[in-house]
Amino acid sequence: MKQRDGLRVLRAASLLFAVTATSVYAAPVSFSESQASRGEKIFKEVCADCHGANLRGGLIGGPPLTGSAFEEKYMKGTPASAIFAFTSAMMPPDAPGQFSPAEYADMIAFILRENGVQTSGAPLPTNPNALDQLIIDK
Ligand code: HEC
Repeated sequence: MKQRDGLRVLRAASLLFAVTATSVYAAPVSFSESQASRGEKIFKEVCADCHGANLRGGLIGGPPLTGSAFEEKYMKGTPASAIFAFTSAMMPPDAPGQFSPAEYADMIAFILRENGVQTSGAPLPTNPNALDQLIIDK
C-alpha cells in the first residue's frame, strides 16, 4: 500500500469515527406539533381531572406538571427518557401502561409544549436509547 492510500484510509476511518461519535452526543429534545395536539386530546380526556387541563394541578390530587418543582425534576438538563419512563410505567395510576409508546410520546410532547420547551419540530421518539440522548432544558 502506498503511503497516500494509507492516509486516505486513515481519513475515512476518522470521518467514520466522527460520525459515530456524534450519534452518542446528547441533543436538545424536540417534538412535533401534531404529536402535541394529539397528546392534548388524550390528556384532556384521561389526565386532566388529576393534573388540570392547564397542568397546574387538578381537583383530585395529581401534582402540577408545570412550575418550578416539576421543572427541577424533569427539565434541568434531564434526558427525556426520565419523564417518558415514569409516565408510561405509572400513569394513569389506575391503569398504567394502557397507552402505546407513541401515545405516551404524544402526551409528553403536549406537556413539553405547555411548559414552553423549544422544539426543532422533529418528532419525539419512543425508543429508550434515543430518548436517553435527548435533553430537556428549560
Ligand atoms: C387519578 C389521578 C391521576 C391521573 C388520572 C393521572 N395522574 Fe399523573 N400523577 C398522579 C399522582 C398522584 C402523581 C404523583 C405520583 C408520584 O410522584 O409517585 C402523578 C405524577 C405524574 C407525573 C410526574 C410528576 C412529577 O412531578 O414527578 C407525570 C409526568 C404524570 N403524572 C403524567 C400523567 C399523564 C400523562 C396522565 C394521563 C395518561 C396522568 N398523569 C394521569 C395522579 C394522576
